[in-house]
Amino acid sequence: MLLNIVKYPNLDLNKKSQEVQAVNDEIKQFVLNMIETMKKEDGVGLAAPQVGVSKRIVVVNWHGDDLVLINPMIIQKSWRKDIKTEGCLSLPKAEFKIKRHKDITVKSLDYSGKNVKIKASNLLARIIQHEIDHLNGVLLVDKINNKEKKKYEESL
Ligand code: CO
Repeated sequence: MLLNIVKYPNLDLNKKSQEVQAVNDEIKQFVLNMIETMKKEDGVGLAAPQVGVSKRIVVVNWHGDDLVLINPMIIQKSWRKDIKTEGCLSLPKAEFKIKRHKDITVKSLDYSGKNVKIKASNLLARIIQHEIDHLNGVLLVDKINNKEKKKYEESL
Protein backbone atom coordinates (compact mmCIF):
# COMPACT_ATOMS: atom_id res chain seq x y z
CA MET A 1 0.00 0.00 0.00
CA LEU A 2 1.35 3.40 -0.95
CA LEU A 3 1.72 5.94 1.83
CA ASN A 4 1.48 9.72 1.64
CA ILE A 5 4.68 11.71 2.04
CA VAL A 6 4.54 14.42 4.70
CA LYS A 7 6.06 17.61 3.31
CA TYR A 8 7.80 20.59 4.83
CA PRO A 9 6.76 22.78 6.66
CA ASN A 10 4.54 20.20 8.42
CA LEU A 11 5.75 20.38 12.03
CA ASP A 12 5.34 16.62 12.55
CA LEU A 13 8.64 16.31 10.67
CA ASN A 14 10.37 18.02 13.61
CA LYS A 15 9.22 15.49 16.23
CA LYS A 16 11.54 12.91 17.72
CA SER A 17 10.29 9.41 16.84
CA GLN A 18 9.65 6.62 19.33
CA GLU A 19 11.52 3.32 19.57
CA VAL A 20 9.84 0.24 18.13
CA GLN A 21 9.04 -2.13 20.99
CA ALA A 22 8.56 -5.31 18.96
CA VAL A 23 9.04 -6.13 15.29
CA ASN A 24 5.61 -7.72 14.88
CA ASP A 25 3.44 -8.34 11.80
CA GLU A 26 1.98 -4.86 11.94
CA ILE A 27 5.45 -3.28 11.87
CA LYS A 28 6.55 -5.63 9.07
CA GLN A 29 3.56 -4.71 6.92
CA PHE A 30 4.30 -1.04 7.55
CA VAL A 31 7.95 -1.57 6.52
CA LEU A 32 6.78 -3.18 3.25
CA ASN A 33 4.52 -0.18 2.63
CA MET A 34 7.46 2.14 3.28
CA ILE A 35 9.62 0.25 0.76
CA GLU A 36 6.86 0.36 -1.86
CA THR A 37 6.42 4.09 -1.27
CA MET A 38 10.16 4.82 -1.42
CA LYS A 39 10.43 3.05 -4.77
CA LYS A 40 7.36 4.73 -6.22
CA GLU A 41 8.78 8.12 -5.20
CA ASP A 42 12.22 7.23 -6.59
CA GLY A 43 13.85 7.83 -3.23
CA VAL A 44 17.06 6.23 -1.99
CA GLY A 45 15.80 6.31 1.58
CA LEU A 46 12.69 6.94 3.64
CA ALA A 47 12.09 7.40 7.37
CA ALA A 48 8.77 6.60 9.10
CA PRO A 49 8.04 10.21 10.20
CA GLN A 50 8.05 11.14 6.49
CA VAL A 51 4.89 9.07 6.13
CA GLY A 52 3.35 10.38 9.34
CA VAL A 53 4.42 7.58 11.68
CA SER A 54 6.50 8.63 14.66
CA LYS A 55 8.54 5.42 14.93
CA ARG A 56 12.27 4.78 14.59
CA ILE A 57 12.16 2.95 11.25
CA VAL A 58 14.25 3.64 8.16
CA VAL A 59 14.34 1.96 4.76
CA VAL A 60 17.12 2.42 2.22
CA ASN A 61 17.22 1.41 -1.44
CA TRP A 62 20.87 0.47 -1.89
CA HIS A 63 21.52 -0.56 -5.50
CA GLY A 64 18.19 -2.38 -5.61
CA ASP A 65 18.59 -4.04 -2.19
CA ASP A 66 16.13 -3.03 0.49
CA LEU A 67 17.86 -2.20 3.74
CA VAL A 68 15.60 -2.07 6.80
CA LEU A 69 16.85 -0.34 9.95
CA ILE A 70 14.68 -0.45 13.06
CA ASN A 71 15.80 1.58 16.10
CA PRO A 72 19.08 2.43 14.35
CA MET A 73 21.88 3.92 16.40
CA ILE A 74 25.21 5.23 15.15
CA ILE A 75 27.83 3.64 17.41
CA GLN A 76 30.93 4.77 15.53
CA LYS A 77 31.68 7.60 13.18
CA SER A 78 34.79 8.67 11.36
CA TRP A 79 36.57 11.88 12.11
CA ARG A 80 36.67 12.45 8.36
CA LYS A 81 33.71 14.18 6.81
CA ASP A 82 32.75 15.19 3.30
CA ILE A 83 30.30 17.57 1.69
CA LYS A 84 27.83 16.49 -0.98
CA THR A 85 24.51 17.68 -2.36
CA GLU A 86 21.39 16.09 -0.88
CA GLY A 87 17.69 16.20 -1.58
CA CYS A 88 14.74 14.94 0.44
CA LEU A 89 11.29 13.63 -0.48
CA SER A 90 9.81 15.89 2.22
CA LEU A 91 11.50 19.02 0.86
CA PRO A 92 10.27 19.74 -2.68
CA LYS A 93 13.01 21.01 -5.01
CA ALA A 94 15.57 21.17 -2.22
CA GLU A 95 19.23 20.63 -3.01
CA PHE A 96 21.67 21.52 -0.28
CA LYS A 97 25.32 20.85 0.31
CA ILE A 98 25.58 18.95 3.59
CA LYS A 99 28.59 17.86 5.61
CA ARG A 100 28.46 14.27 6.92
CA HIS A 101 30.75 11.69 8.44
CA LYS A 102 32.41 9.59 5.73
CA ASP A 103 32.20 6.28 7.59
CA ILE A 104 29.77 5.09 10.24
CA THR A 105 28.89 1.91 12.09
CA VAL A 106 25.22 1.46 12.89
CA LYS A 107 23.57 -0.92 15.29
CA SER A 108 19.91 -1.73 14.61
CA LEU A 109 17.26 -4.39 14.24
CA ASP A 110 16.60 -5.79 10.79
CA TYR A 111 13.30 -6.78 9.14
CA SER A 112 13.17 -10.03 11.11
CA GLY A 113 13.87 -8.26 14.39
CA LYS A 114 17.46 -9.51 14.65
CA ASN A 115 20.31 -7.38 15.94
CA VAL A 116 22.61 -6.29 13.14
CA LYS A 117 25.67 -4.10 12.83
CA ILE A 118 26.30 -2.31 9.56
CA LYS A 119 29.46 -0.56 8.46
CA ALA A 120 28.77 2.05 5.80
CA SER A 121 30.91 4.52 3.89
CA ASN A 122 30.44 7.46 1.56
CA LEU A 123 26.99 7.57 -0.10
CA LEU A 124 25.45 4.78 1.99
CA ALA A 125 26.78 6.36 5.19
CA ARG A 126 25.35 9.67 4.01
CA ILE A 127 21.88 8.22 3.29
CA ILE A 128 21.72 6.50 6.68
CA GLN A 129 22.78 9.67 8.50
CA HIS A 130 20.15 11.65 6.59
CA GLU A 131 17.40 9.15 7.51
CA ILE A 132 18.44 8.92 11.18
CA ASP A 133 18.26 12.72 11.30
CA HIS A 134 14.57 12.36 10.32
CA LEU A 135 14.01 10.10 13.35
CA ASN A 136 15.38 12.89 15.52
CA GLY A 137 13.20 15.52 13.85
CA VAL A 138 16.11 17.07 11.96
CA LEU A 139 15.67 18.17 8.34
CA LEU A 140 18.16 19.46 5.77
CA VAL A 141 16.76 22.95 6.33
CA ASP A 142 17.87 22.68 9.96
CA LYS A 143 21.45 22.14 8.81
CA ILE A 144 21.87 25.09 6.46
CA ASN A 145 22.36 28.74 7.29
CA ASN A 146 19.45 31.15 7.76
CA LYS A 147 20.05 32.94 4.50
CA GLU A 148 19.93 29.71 2.52
CA LYS A 149 16.85 28.60 4.43
CA LYS A 150 15.05 31.87 3.74
CA LYS A 151 15.87 31.62 0.04
CA TYR A 152 14.47 28.08 -0.01
CA GLU A 153 11.27 29.06 1.78
CA GLU A 154 10.70 31.89 -0.66
CA SER A 155 11.07 29.45 -3.55
CA LEU A 156 8.19 27.27 -2.29
CO1 CO B 1 14.82 13.20 3.82
